[in-house]
Amino acid sequence: MSEPLVLVERRGEGVRGTALMRLNRPKQLNALNSELMDVLGRALLAADADDGIGCIVITGNERAFAAGADIAAMAKKTYAEALAEPFITRNWETIRQVRKPVIGAVAGFALGGGCELAMMCDFIIAADTAKFGQPEIKLAILPGAGGTQRLPRAVGKSKAMDLVLTARMMDAAEAERAGLVSRVVAADKLLDEALAAAEIINGLSGPAVALAKACVNKSFEGGLADGVDYERRIFHSLFATADQKEGMAAFLEKRAPNFTAR
Ligand code: HXC
Repeated sequence: MSEPLVLVERRGEGVRGTALMRLNRPKQLNALNSELMDVLGRALLAADADDGIGCIVITGNERAFAAGADIAAMAKKTYAEALAEPFITRNWETIRQVRKPVIGAVAGFALGGGCELAMMCDFIIAADTAKFGQPEIKLAILPGAGGTQRLPRAVGKSKAMDLVLTARMMDAAEAERAGLVSRVVAADKLLDEALAAAEIINGLSGPAVALAKACVNKSFEGGLADGVDYERRIFHSLFATADQKEGMAAFLEKRAPNFTAR
């Protein structure tokens, strides 16, 4: 039998405990694929619905939190496949539906989609071995799971541009100075620190915690200009599809369109 893609266990002795979720593709440095993100998404929703859980911790292993989206799984995708499949990004942002706090406990590489997943957590505790980056530009792509939006909000435009455009990695100390992570701890204390933070939260009022989280997240929501700009770019990109040509031609030729999802 193959190993589970995410190892989930309950930690803590209290009425409300912590759901600890470990990404588990060690040979691929926890590269994230659709299957893993589906499993993680289901585990997150189950923990959110479980009255016996107060807080969630997502972690990787000593070498990597996650070295990004699985490059082998996406190398040959066409534009239409990228749009149609959950990989880019339908099943990636389930974490945003979770009302309970999610702590990212990061050691080693958190790159590309791995950095983006960490940034979707409510806060990040980093081991002193952590390395963060958005190196997608080296693959002639760009961060596709919120990195261009969340990184500048976390570290400011200049550092975000530096990381996104040069693909350089940032160590844990720089990440803490920049405000990406809430604290840096010795690597062998990472899980203890994250679970201790979760235990504090588990002892507090669940509704107050969920609403406090929602309020802080509200401060990060973009304005109208961002939304319109985003919409315009997506709009333009649809002109790369055969369906757009067919749909408009069919209208002009006064016939029913024959869409092929291409
Ligand atoms: C698939 C990966 C991988 C990835 C590492 N591996 N990262 N496989 N996708 N993102 C695999 C390697 O191919 C290798 O497999 C094994 O993990 C160990 O990696 P090495 O490269 O041998 O390790 P090392 O020399 O220590 O270098 C570590 C590294 C490097 C610096 C992290 O692996 C690296 O640059 N990885 C790619 C990082 C990246 O570009 N991430 C962004 C991906 S795009 P074998 O079989 O050879 O042992 C992205 C888009 C997000 O994330 C969009 C979201 C929708």
